[in-house]
Amino acid sequence: MILVLLGPPGAGKGTQAERLQEAFNLVHVASGDLFRENLRQKTDLGNLAQKYMDRGELVPDDVTIGMVRARLEQPDAAEGIILDGFPRTIAQARGLDEMLDDMDRELSAVLHIAVPDEELIRRLSGRWICEQCQTPYHVLSNPPQVAGKCNLCGGKLYQRDDDKPETVGARLEVYHSQTSPLIEFYREANLLREVDGSGEIDDVWEALKNTVEALE
Ligand code: AP5
Repeated sequence: MILVLLGPPGAGKGTQAERLQEAFNLVHVASGDLFRENLRQKTDLGNLAQKYMDRGELVPDDVTIGMVRARLEQPDAAEGIILDGFPRTIAQARGLDEMLDDMDRELSAVLHIAVPDEELIRRLSGRWICEQCQTPYHVLSNPPQVAGKCNLCGGKLYQRDDDKPETVGARLEVYHSQTSPLIEFYREANLLREVDGSGEIDDVWEALKNTVEALE
C-alpha cells in the first residue's frame, strides 16, 4: 500500500502518520523531516533547503523529487509507504508517478486532511517536536507526559523556526496557491479520499483508519 497524506501545514499529517505507520505497518517518509535531517547534518542539500524553509517557500521541485526518489529506493521502503508532505505541486505529483512506474508500483490513495486556516495557526503556534524521532506534540491538545520530553523515546522537544507567525502565514499562502490544486488533480484520478481534520486527534484518527481499512 502506498498512501499520500495531503493537507495544509498543521493539518495533523505528522501526528496521524505516526498512527498509520504503526497500525498498517507502513514506512513514514516525510519530505520536511528529510530536509530537516539534511539541515542538522549540514549537507549541501540542507543548506539549499534552509533558504526556502526559512521563508515558508517550497524547495525547488527537481531537488525535492530527487531526494524522495533516493529515499524510496532504500530497502525498507520496498513494502508499504506513507508519504507525508510530498507531493506538494503538480510537477511533484508527476515526478511521483514516474518514480512509481519505474519501480513497478502504484499509488493506493491520497488522504486529504482538511482544516480551516484559523485552527492551523492555533495548532502551529503551540507545537513542540521531538528532536530525535520527530513526534509532534501540542501544549494544549496533545501535551507530552513529562514537560519537554518525548513520550516515545525520551528525546528533547523543540519548536520549529518556521512555526513563527510571519512564516506560518507564508506557508499557508503557498499551500493555497501551489499545493491545493492537487486536490482536484487526485480527485480526477479517482485517488482522493476526504477526511475532516478539524476534530480531536482521536476522531480524525478514527476517520482515517476507516478510510484506509476500506482500501484493503
Ligand atoms: P513540512 O515539514 O512538511 O511541514 P508542513 O507540511 O508545513 O506540515 P507540518 O509538519 O507543519 O504540519 P503537520 O500537518 O504534519 O501537522 P502536525 O501533525 O505536526 O514542511 C516544512 C517545509 O519544508 C516547507 O515549508 C518547505 O519549505 C519544505 N518542504 C517540505 N516538503 C516539501 C515538498 N514536497 N516540496 C517542497 N518543499 C517542501 O500537527 C500540528 C500541531 O497540531 C501539533 O502540535 C499537533 O500535536 C497538533 N494537532 C494535530 N492534530 C490535531 C487535532 N486533530 N486537534 C488538535 N491539535 C492537533
